[in-house]
Amino acid sequence: MPDQLVALVSGANTGIGLQVARDLARHRLIVLVGSRDLDRGKAAAAEIDGDAHAVQLDVTDPSSIAAAAARVGSEFGRLDVLVNNAGVSFLGDPGTPLAERARAGLLTGVPIDVVRRMFEINVIGPIAVTQALLPLLQAAPAARIVNVGSGGASLTLNADPANPHRAMFGVYPTTKAALHAATLGFATALEETGIKVNVADPGFTATALNNFQGTRTVAEGARRIVELALLGPDGPTGTFSNDEGTVPW
Ligand SMILES: NC(=O)c1ccc[n+]([C@@H]2O[C@H](COP(=O)([O-])OP(=O)(O)OC[C@H]3O[C@@H](n4cnc5c(N)ncnc54)[C@H](OP(=O)(O)O)[C@@H]3O)[C@@H](O)[C@H]2O)c1
Repeated sequence: MPDQLVALVSGANTGIGLQVARDLARHRLIVLVGSRDLDRGKAAAAEIDGDAHAVQLDVTDPSSIAAAAARVGSEFGRLDVLVNNAGVSFLGDPGTPLAERARAGLLTGVPIDVVRRMFEINVIGPIAVTQALLPLLQAAPAARIVNVGSGGASLTLNADPANPHRAMFGVYPTTKAALHAATLGFATALEETGIKVNVADPGFTATALNNFQGTRTVAEGARRIVELALLGPDGPTGTFSNDEGTVPW
């Protein structure tokens, strides 16, 4: 087993996930760059300064998840950090303006196959990846799991009639709210093990997910995710936060 901590980041070939992989490598972790397209993962790993390796990982494909877990097991024997970052906010034409995407995602009209697919990627995927890697996380002395959620999916904030953004609460925030719930489920089930499981909200970050209209850089978006990935023994579990503090569930 290596002395260095080992981290796996899903969807790390681009965007916030790639920045998280870069930051963890800078902290001297061995970083496994999860990518559903292996070549794009290899290209991303090659541009990371540090110990980074591509791993094919489609979070909706059970055989891909099993192969990734088997590889981590045989090469490293444990996993110290899992960042469930892979996610999608829209499944239509990527050029569609954000306001139109939000309208198309409203639950009153969004096609049910889109709902199903988005739950597969954003909710069932991270649950399946976490389950598959759990024996390896349990083999680490103090594993950390970070699920990348969204402040825009806060039920508390969106229940407030004064919140102007609540008009956009469609299928994407619904999946992220479910991921937040799953985080709490894992955190409580693993409370006695020392494994800490938290949600990080990156904030509105300029990536392909929003046609690069986000107002934060990927360095800013990755910050809280990396902090939660590197939590010390006194750090929290079962929380939802951004780099300014706690976000209401
Ligand atoms: N950007 C924001 O403002 C913002 C705000 C709140 C939360 N988030 C969350 O942050 C996370 C990262 O998003 P981002 O902004 O960095 O977007 P991004 O640049 O579009 O990156 C999304 C990543 O997820 C991957 N992915 C999609 N489907 C996948 C699948 N089935 N299996 C494995 N990987 C898959 C993508 O792979 P491909 O390159 O192959 O498509 C890509 O690597 C997401 O969970 C998102 O919901 C983002």
